[in-house]
Amino acid sequence: MKKISVSPTEDQYAALLARVSASRKYRALGIPDTTLRDLLEKTLRACSDPRQVEKVFRQKLHNLLATYLGDPDYTMMRQVLAALPNQPHAAEVMEWCAQLLKAHASTRERLPMLSLFYHEIFRFTGTPRVVLDLACGLNPFALPWMGLPRETAYYAYDLHQPRVDLIDAFFQHIGQTGSAYHRDILVEPPEMEADVVFFFKEAHRFEQRERGVNRQFFHRLRTRWLLVSLPTVSLNGQRSLLTSGRRLVAEACAQRGWQVSELLFDSEIVFCIRADA
Ligand SMILES: C[S@@+](CC[C@H](N)C(=O)[O-])C[C@H]1O[C@@H](n2cnc3c(N)ncnc32)[C@H](O)[C@@H]1O
Repeated sequence: MKKISVSPTEDQYAALLARVSASRKYRALGIPDTTLRDLLEKTLRACSDPRQVEKVFRQKLHNLLATYLGDPDYTMMRQVLAALPNQPHAAEVMEWCAQLLKAHASTRERLPMLSLFYHEIFRFTGTPRVVLDLACGLNPFALPWMGLPRETAYYAYDLHQPRVDLIDAFFQHIGQTGSAYHRDILVEPPEMEADVVFFFKEAHRFEQRERGVNRQFFHRLRTRWLLVSLPTVSLNGQRSLLTSGRRLVAEACAQRGWQVSELLFDSEIVFCIRADA
């Protein structure tokens, strides 16, 4: 008997998105609808076999959210925060922040060099009035080591709702100007003007989401300094990523006439791009 293949309908795709975002792995994260739709569109473009769509889509989401990089207990940390002093440099506050920074691979790797890292960055850019921290993860909890005044407006963006909520609560608690936004920065890049944009340890993942996308993304940001960082070695420490990282940034900045300087640390390289030229 001849097999009849039926192509999936809009309804079936809507059901797939609802099923995935309600799954045990993702339901607490509040992934923006725009992200899910964007990933599904990219999957459908790349995938000619309808039976592979769900598998490829789930793989893309897994890579994007990278839950394997680690997470703290957000509810518990929020309760602890409520009882802490309001001064960002109080020992208990710094200990609470350090606990959070240790919970995720990206910030854990930066922890041993945190003061030096931000000292070198702001020595280079000057003290900013407005910072955007894009795909911020848990990095805003490094604020006590950044040496920024409370008047510096710090805007953090991530698509992980519990992270965003805890960062916002932290800013309010210590009286830092700014806020945290739950938003997919690739689908909706921030329009706000900034002195400094941090885009740390995410540009290589953007390339996995869509090859070549950093070029257009960088050009849409409105900032004097765009600081893009990348890891210098792979997660297992086996492979140097310096050459591929330099290539990625060179390609994204090609034909712009932007000046790019490097700050090289043990585990991370920061490309300081003068992006208002
Ligand atoms: C590898 S971590 C890097 C965290 C941080 N930038 C750092 O270096 O410490 C990636 C973070 O980016 C967030 N993210 C990934 N893609 C994003 C997007 N398109 N919009 C907003 N956040 C995103 C993830 O939720 C995660 O918290």
